[in-house]
Amino acid sequence: LAIEGSGFTSQSRDEVRYFERALFLIDEHGMIQSVLQSDDEQYDAEKTQAQERGIYQAIAEGSYLLPGFIDLHVHAPQWAQDGTGLDEPLEVWLGKYTFPTESKFSDETYAHMVYGDLVSRMLSTGTTTASYYATVDRQGSLVLAQEANRLGQRALVGKVVMDDKEANPDYYRDASAQAAVRETERFINEVAELNEHSAQGIYPVITPRFIPSCSDEALRGLGELAARYQDYAYIQTHCSESDWEHGYAYERYGRSDTQMLREFGLFTERSILAHSVYPSEEDMRVFAETGAIAVHCPLSNAFFAGAVAPIRRFMDAGMHVALGSDISGGYNPDLYGAIRQAVTSSRMLETGVNRDAPAGERGVANSALTLNNAFYLATAGGGESLGLPIGRLEAGYAWDAQVVDAKYPSARLPIFGEAEPASDIFQKIVNLVVPENIRTVWVQGREVVNK
Ligand code: GUN
Ligand code: FE
Repeated sequence: LAIEGSGFTSQSRDEVRYFERALFLIDEHGMIQSVLQSDDEQYDAEKTQAQERGIYQAIAEGSYLLPGFIDLHVHAPQWAQDGTGLDEPLEVWLGKYTFPTESKFSDETYAHMVYGDLVSRMLSTGTTTASYYATVDRQGSLVLAQEANRLGQRALVGKVVMDDKEANPDYYRDASAQAAVRETERFINEVAELNEHSAQGIYPVITPRFIPSCSDEALRGLGELAARYQDYAYIQTHCSESDWEHGYAYERYGRSDTQMLREFGLFTERSILAHSVYPSEEDMRVFAETGAIAVHCPLSNAFFAGAVAPIRRFMDAGMHVALGSDISGGYNPDLYGAIRQAVTSSRMLETGVNRDAPAGERGVANSALTLNNAFYLATAGGGESLGLPIGRLEAGYAWDAQVVDAKYPSARLPIFGEAEPASDIFQKIVNLVVPENIRTVWVQGREVVNK
């Protein structure tokens, strides 16, 4: 594949780079072999050769390439209840909305329908990699892995563990700690088998829902699995999600959930920790030392935490940070929404929202994220966090990309044809795009959306 076009990619946390009419040469494994600029010597020869071989594709004038987005926290079954229930606090919402919804996914026909719909929707808005929670039911969870694989999305998929008999309803929980660990191990192996036939990668994830749902025995058993399958299984859970959840760990153990997850062997460089709103300085050191990932879910945090995670401080402390939609604790299924929310939330953290306090004493200095920062989290930051060559349009990375149509008048973005700085076009795209503007999406060199 050879693709010629203009677009944007993160250069660093703070900088986005514009490239104009670059020629991307993509090999048979869907990896970017090289990127030629129009003044490169071989540019014309490579282009002509690609045209002759029928593998050349030009991105239209007024359309732009962006890297595919990486959404590291999605509850796939909750797509069926998306947009509802958010007036309730987390601990009520789980029992009233979420457990009844998730319990339906042992019906595989239903699972195929909802999961297929969500994966297509996410792909069509540019999300090329996602980390998913499925449900307690192993076979229903496997349907999610199959749907992602069939539709061509790179996916990390976990069977949810919630075995505690007191914390969980009888109609929706693991039968026992041993059963939870056994089913998780079986799931890991089934997904690993599926991955052998996958071009883009389908990875198993050890997924204790969060400490309040799980017995110590289950957490210990999952920690042992994490050690045994450390080469290809990831780990995900919720961490320091709200005052209630953060306080729960202190009450049960006298320590934070970060410290306890580490003790159970569940805090490694392959751990994907959703929310992480309240880590202490010591907890932040655990993140930085292990290389674990804090997944920022700004919309969901506004509801369940009523708080803003200090992402700039996390990055300065050397933590890996990525972005998540948290469907359906956050209702927006596209990562453009999460990018925008990350920026707006961070600005309110910086300046403060209590207008009765004197100006200058309302907020937390140095908290604001720029649009470039948030775009980095959705792309290169996610890729670096996972340790996978994704999230950048550069040689050595997978060809995971989206084409955004920004042409007046069809795209309905306020770009009126006069020469505008590329950085303004970038900002208009990231702030204003609607799903209809995203025309083509590739994952690992395979075209998965064309509209
Ligand atoms: N904490 C435990 N389970 C959940 C969930 O399903 N969604 C969110 N946002 N937080 C959780
Ligand atoms: Fe969540």
